[in-house]
Amino acid sequence: MSTAAIHAGWGPAADGHRALTPPVYTSSAYAQTSHSSLKALFERRTEGFAYSRSGNPTTAVLEQRISALEQGIGAIAVASGQSATTIALCALAAPGGHVVASSLLYGGTTELLDDTLADFGVTCTVADPWDLEAWEAAFTDRTRAAIVESIANPGAQLVDLSALTDIAHAHDVPVVVDSTLASPALYRPREHGADLVVHSATKYLCGHGTTIAGLIVDTGRFDPRRRPERWQRLTAPNRRFGVTFADEYRRGGSGLLAYARAKYVTDFGTTLPAASAQQILVGMETLDLRMRKVSTDAAALAGRLHGLPGVSTVEHSSIPGRPDAHLAQRDFPRGTSGVFSLELAGGEAAAAAFCDALSLWTIAVNIGDARSLVCHPGTTTHSHLSEGQRSACGVRPGTVRLSVGLEDLEDLWADLVRGLEAAREVSTAVPATA
Ligand SMILES: Cc1ncc(COP(=O)(O)O)c(C=O)c1O
Repeated sequence: MSTAAIHAGWGPAADGHRALTPPVYTSSAYAQTSHSSLKALFERRTEGFAYSRSGNPTTAVLEQRISALEQGIGAIAVASGQSATTIALCALAAPGGHVVASSLLYGGTTELLDDTLADFGVTCTVADPWDLEAWEAAFTDRTRAAIVESIANPGAQLVDLSALTDIAHAHDVPVVVDSTLASPALYRPREHGADLVVHSATKYLCGHGTTIAGLIVDTGRFDPRRRPERWQRLTAPNRRFGVTFADEYRRGGSGLLAYARAKYVTDFGTTLPAASAQQILVGMETLDLRMRKVSTDAAALAGRLHGLPGVSTVEHSSIPGRPDAHLAQRDFPRGTSGVFSLELAGGEAAAAAFCDALSLWTIAVNIGDARSLVCHPGTTTHSHLSEGQRSACGVRPGTVRLSVGLEDLEDLWADLVRGLEAAREVSTAVPATA
């Protein structure tokens, strides 16, 4: 993993100047040698770059690198993690399809399914991924995709992905795994049956909070040719593009991603700028080292917080009694990332006092930064959800999300202790029921 994170997709031989790191190609268009060479690109008879909205040489290096790390047959880089999820779900389920969604999802994904994709006729059933019977019962004849997070944001819940994908595959439904919190350094969804992997590369792949980016990887498990009547948009000749996208599989590529790029990336225009791709590539070089440190430090901090006065619960798989403890042992031997949450007994007032008292942890709605970050999901990332949706993913009024950065563990702990003192002062001044 750490070798591929540095070398996959680029070597000095790829460049006339033998640049060691991939150059940033800031060109909107690419000069062609003849009229017929550009025509061939538009007719999809040859490969190459015509216009950066649909592909760019720097972005292509990032696509090759994430595909190598996730053991895929191809990848697409897009402008944000949100765009990656949108395009993956549109390519599988729009128009008019049905999606089975884990109840443990990032709030933005729940909103996307609940509101915007619903506008396009995509319906959704939410199921608890820890309840396999409920998960099974959610599938219908119209289901075209299932979506789940390998480590959920913000409660760091782990899922038994092999069990969930077995059920989905029995219904011939591909599974999209949002593996943003895990990153390929900790977990490779393909090994547990995932068909597509999406990342908010904004987070750990970037690692420094500088860039918004998203990635979609096809793991090569999904083959629409097994059910051609179900996946006609891939298996039948496409009137607009004049090709059958499933032919791409015979060339070792991904028909689904070719379709997604030609249609959705190009039409929605959610292209990743080359400079952003390069920032993510630089971040990925240190991914393995960072993930080990943040995972170890998050587990240590979660353990110290557990059971302290004023702390009702700590959501981390290492905490005694968590139903996913066995999954941490079995599937996440390298750790479970630097994100976890805790619930303060004094509700939102205590959470606010806690956040405001911190000086090293910064109040910000991001995760995976080198800096440690804190936020109150109930009024930020999950604020547009109903109370029922929030409680289904473990977000309560006193819940605070922590994203452990790369600072010294004892400095981080000293700051948290200050935060807890402030939260306790509020809790004793205001009854918890208020
Ligand atoms: C798990 C997860 N998936 C997707 C996203 C969306 O990513 P982006 O902010 O890059 O659009 C986020 C953002 O917080 C996230 O935490």
